Amino acid sequence: MNGLDVAEDRRSRGIGTALLATAETCARNRGYHHIGLGVDDDNPRAAALYLRLGYRETGCRYLDRYSYVDADGSSHDVADPARFLVKDLG
Ligand SMILES: CC(C)(COP(=O)(O)OP(=O)(O)OC[C@H]1O[C@@H](n2cnc3c(N)ncnc32)[C@H](O)[C@@H]1OP(=O)(O)O)[C@@H](O)C(=O)NCCC(=O)NCCS
Repeated sequence: MNGLDVAEDRRSRGIGTALLATAETCARNRGYHHIGLGVDDDNPRAAALYLRLGYRETGCRYLDRYSYVDADGSSHDVADPARFLVKDLG
C-alpha cells in the first residue's frame, strides 16, 4: 500500500484503521499471506499507527520518489527516505 490519506478534517476517527482492515481483508481473500506499506521517516505518527496495528519492521529502506507540479506550474522531483513495514495475515 502506498499514499494512504484521510481528509484532514476527518482524521483520528478510525477511518485510516478501517481502510487498512479492509485492504487486509481483500488481500487475505485473494490468498495473500502478507501485506506491506511504506512510510516516510518524517511521519512518526503514521508509523506509530501501523506498528500498533501489527505491522512490523523489515529493515528495508528506500527512497520514496515522486513528482508534483506546484500552483505556479513548476515541477518538483522529491526523494524522501522511507521504510517498508509488513503485516502477517495469518
Ligand atoms: C495516517 C492517516 C492515513 C491515518 O488515518 P486516520 O483516519 O487519521 O487514522 P485512525 O483514526 O484510524 O488512527 C489515528 C492514528 O493515526 C495517526 N495519525 C493521526 N493523524 C495523523 C496525521 N495528521 N499524520 C500522520 N498520522 C496521523 C496517529 O497514529 C493516530 O493516533 P493518535 O491520534 O493516537 O496519535 C491519516 O492521519 C492521514 O491521512 N495523515 C496524513 C497523510 C499521511 O501521513 N499518510 C500516511 C502516508 S504513509
